[in-house]
Amino acid sequence: KKVVLAYSGGLDTSVIVPWLKENYGCEVVCFTADVGQGIKELDGLEQKAKASGASQLVVKDLTEEFVKDYIFPCLRAGAIYERKYLLGTSMARPVIAKAMVDVAAEVGADAVAHGCTGKGNDQVRFELTFFSLNPELKVVAPWREWEIQGREDAIEYAKKHNVPVPVTKKSIYSRDRNLWHLSHEGDLLEDPANEPKKDMYMLSVDPEDAPDQPEYIEIGIESGLPVALNGKALSPATLLTELNTIGGKHGIGRIDMVENRLVGMKSRGVYETPGGTILFAAVQELESLTLDRESIQVKDSLALKYAEMVYAGRWFDPLRESMDAFMEKITETTTGSVTLKLYKGSVSVTARKSPNSLYRQDISSFEGSEIYNQADAAGFIRLYGLPMRVRAMLEKGI
Ligand code: ARG
Ligand code: SIN
Repeated sequence: KKVVLAYSGGLDTSVIVPWLKENYGCEVVCFTADVGQGIKELDGLEQKAKASGASQLVVKDLTEEFVKDYIFPCLRAGAIYERKYLLGTSMARPVIAKAMVDVAAEVGADAVAHGCTGKGNDQVRFELTFFSLNPELKVVAPWREWEIQGREDAIEYAKKHNVPVPVTKKSIYSRDRNLWHLSHEGDLLEDPANEPKKDMYMLSVDPEDAPDQPEYIEIGIESGLPVALNGKALSPATLLTELNTIGGKHGIGRIDMVENRLVGMKSRGVYETPGGTILFAAVQELESLTLDRESIQVKDSLALKYAEMVYAGRWFDPLRESMDAFMEKITETTTGSVTLKLYKGSVSVTARKSPNSLYRQDISSFEGSEIYNQADAAGFIRLYGLPMRVRAMLEKGI
């Protein structure tokens, strides 16, 4: 019996290793995905996993795949959960869980394990991905089974099992970081009335401390997907990395919200999504040139459902995949560029251009035009307003 464990090297996942061996009598293969969270000391990580009792550590760099196949489709779809959340953690879970299913096949494991609590969304996202990709895998979620309650319990368990306790003091917040975002939950954030402390933020400066000079950038877009920054073509992960630096410098992309978790409870979270916030502004803006009114309406209404499914862990659901096919088709002509002005926490659009623009100055101009005849408007308005006139006539007995 062999289990693949989603492993970070932190106290919680370190303790899971001996716990699995003790309670399931299985060999433990640790797996760490690089999704841009900033893994330090990969060598140290392998030693640590083995010192905790793992037979091996498998590391996979998933950054380009994460950005290209998970983040960019959500961006193209305009997927935002409950008006604000740009889904950073939600998108990362399926790419990590999919890699775990692959690793399980590679090492011949019959089970997978994760360190998510029984109160959150992440457990659902991991397990729905396991179900969809290999329904035969057994799933172990120690947090839903064991007696360990808090950090003190975990340290005690680690000491008893000779697991090296990480020396770094654990942050008071529950954080999750990847190339798209950093989330903060817990501690003083648990009271929605508390303003976050200034030193909590890690990816962005306080907008008040951002440069006094605005910065202009131009994002190149091809069929709804960003491809270039200031005229230079960049890979998805490189583009996002550069925008995180620029956006962070100008204090862009801080989101503070109370959200509804899938398991029913409300939860307060603060997110930093500097590059992502810039990309959302750019892609949505270009659609104002390339999509007509009804297309935007239908796209936006589907985006709500799309976001809900991603949040709920239903990435590999055929419904999400079908909506993605719609998003790909409808954004086929969304190609061009958008210029943005970044200044003290704000992103404003200053220019947009597209070879497929539906905007025509010769039609829209206030100057006289040949192909739009103002006299046509009178008949149009009479017929368009006919139902309203009929109702008013009825009310007035005409
Ligand atoms: N509330 C966010 C979400 O559900 C962030 C979760 C953060 N996860 C974590 N393990 N710290 O997507
Ligand atoms: C967890 O409970 O493991 C983190 C928070 C979440 O999944 O929503």
